Amino acid sequence: MVKLGVNIDHVATVREARKSYEPDPIQAAKECVRAGCDSIVCHLREDRRHIKDADVKRLRKVIGNLNLEMSIAKEIVDIACRIKPDQATLVPEKRQEITTEGGLDVRRNEACIKRAVARLHKNGIAVSLFINPSKEQIDATVRVGAGIIEFHTGEYANASGAAAVRRQLNILKRAAGYASGKGLIVNAGHGLNYKNVKAVAGIKDMNELNIGHSIISRAVFTGIARAVKEMAGLIR
Ligand code: PXP
Repeated sequence: MVKLGVNIDHVATVREARKSYEPDPIQAAKECVRAGCDSIVCHLREDRRHIKDADVKRLRKVIGNLNLEMSIAKEIVDIACRIKPDQATLVPEKRQEITTEGGLDVRRNEACIKRAVARLHKNGIAVSLFINPSKEQIDATVRVGAGIIEFHTGEYANASGAAAVRRQLNILKRAAGYASGKGLIVNAGHGLNYKNVKAVAGIKDMNELNIGHSIISRAVFTGIARAVKEMAGLIR
């Protein structure tokens, strides 16, 4: 059964719109878990635009399966090694971007990613790399010693027209087969929503989908528990 990780960053985005205390991302995370999601995901960005250090600390206390998205900046790796999420997902980060725009270039940054992976592993943290679905990046992931990958599904989500969508889906399918043949756990995320998620959930060897914006958007109208249950129903 494909698992669902819920990214709660945008609960904090609404809070930060007023620099207020509400809505509380930790309360949201608890409700997501009660509604049946398998993990909670949050991204501690270097600019702290939504999730703050204190949020991650509080989440660590109450969430059993916490996946921290993060860059490989030393300051952030230090924090992860102190807080010890269950998993760290290493992502590229640019200050000006609205959201994570592409996968990590593991091939070009092998040495520093390998160092970060080793440090996190030493602290008992499983490591996933957020990559584009290409053989080169999968091979590089194996070389740096991470056991998990998350495919960036942005190109699939943004494809327009049936042929383009099919082409992107086939790229994801081939990459998933190749990666699982190398012994990697295969996850995916970014831009997935209630309309496009089923095809990705149907990919053989898919372990977990990490979804944020569409669930938090639907929650405005339905409440977060129902939004999570509806998404879990689609992917399982
Ligand atoms: N996975 C990763 C690694 C991400 O960086 C993001 C965006 O923060 C997501 C999943 C969730 O993407 P979305 O908010 O588009 O569902």
